[in-house]
Amino acid sequence: MTARACVIGWPVEHSRSPVIHRYWLNQYGIDGAYEKEAVRPEDLRGFVQQLWTHGYIGANVTLPHKEEALRAARSADEAAVSIGAANTLWLDPEGALHASNTDAYGFMTNLDAQAPQWNEATGAVMVLGAGGAARAILFGLLAAGVTRILLANRTRAKAEALAHVFGPKVDVVDWADRAAALSACSLLINSTSLGMTGQPPLDIDLATLPADGVVADIVYVPLETKLLADARARGLSCVDGLGMLLHQAVPGFERWFGVRPEVTPELRAHVMATLGEQ
Ligand code: ATR
Repeated sequence: MTARACVIGWPVEHSRSPVIHRYWLNQYGIDGAYEKEAVRPEDLRGFVQQLWTHGYIGANVTLPHKEEALRAARSADEAAVSIGAANTLWLDPEGALHASNTDAYGFMTNLDAQAPQWNEATGAVMVLGAGGAARAILFGLLAAGVTRILLANRTRAKAEALAHVFGPKVDVVDWADRAAALSACSLLINSTSLGMTGQPPLDIDLATLPADGVVADIVYVPLETKLLADARARGLSCVDGLGMLLHQAVPGFERWFGVRPEVTPELRAHVMATLGEQ
């Protein structure tokens, strides 16, 4: 029987997950399908609790459903619980619904792949933003053993709330002081929506970031944000946001279809072509 999974969102049209999973299904010759499901927020719980009836063995969950998906599941892994959101669901043989969050895994695996030296550096890590993406990234950094994170967000109270959740290794820095605080850092991560097509660019002077510093952006449309272009111009190592998107898809695919898929340059080029970037 054809194994079917889907991505659930509202709206869901923009999701790139079908492009990634269909590429792998095709590459590995698997009898599987991956669909898009537009589900209204008020219908989410019912939909995921009836996944099997809808013909699915699992699903990705995107905005605005990630918190509710976690609440709807019978069990969740440590990442999903700590992040407070789920992006990957699957049914066990008894039909019980399980939830995971693979965003931290995706971010960290991509960081390790694109700038492995980040881990050798002794400086702090600066994270900009305090939304859902920041929460996943803080979880990933702390799980990887990072001992000092500086967190800056336009709305300071949201950064403080996150720092409170993740403990004393996370210090809040005022949004106005973000550039000055870079002198103590070896890695800068943008987890805000600034720089995305249609949004203003992220305005930050990179001059104080040490020359062996790394700059990572989670924005992937455009792939080369102004932040990354500025970093490249300074000779800093750059990590773009597309790799996170690709790597976060790996655990779900393996769970549903039984093959651990590879993130290859060919997959990257295939997804970039659908983003209109080449
Ligand atoms: P996600 O779940 O993708 O992280 P989000 O929860 O909407 O998305 O968070 C968006 C982040 O981008 C927030 O940190 C937001 O800052 P606020 O908490 O102050 O809203 C940040 N952001 C969005 N637009 C911004 C802007 N113009 N200037 C500074 N930060 C901005």
